[in-house]
Amino acid sequence: MPKVVLHRDGQVYQDEVKDNTNLVVRAGIKQFPYPNLRYGCGMGKCAKCACRILKGGEHLPAPNWKEKKQLGAVRLEQGYRLICQLWLNHDIELAQDLQPLEPAAPASA
Ligand code: FES
Repeated sequence: MPKVVLHRDGQVYQDEVKDNTNLVVRAGIKQFPYPNLRYGCGMGKCAKCACRILKGGEHLPAPNWKEKKQLGAVRLEQGYRLICQLWLNHDIELAQDLQPLEPAAPASA
């Protein structure tokens, strides 16, 4: 069971989740990390769910095309990922900025 640590606004939230868990899906049904994880579309289009990965990034798959499009190369290098695009099977520690990131690419219809 992956352990998830979320830093936001000076607070640290921590819990375990089942294998193959998507944190935005969980938040959508009001389970941890709700209400502390900001998210929007759940489809990799808005970048509201973006977080910096502090630990455990080595277990994540490479960014998909939506993450590359919405985050851009610089923010990917800084460790940002779109949490709605990730299914967790390992411990992870992440931080979400108070201000949502502007998507690198405008939302398409
Ligand atoms: S919730 Fe919109 S990009 Fe993740």
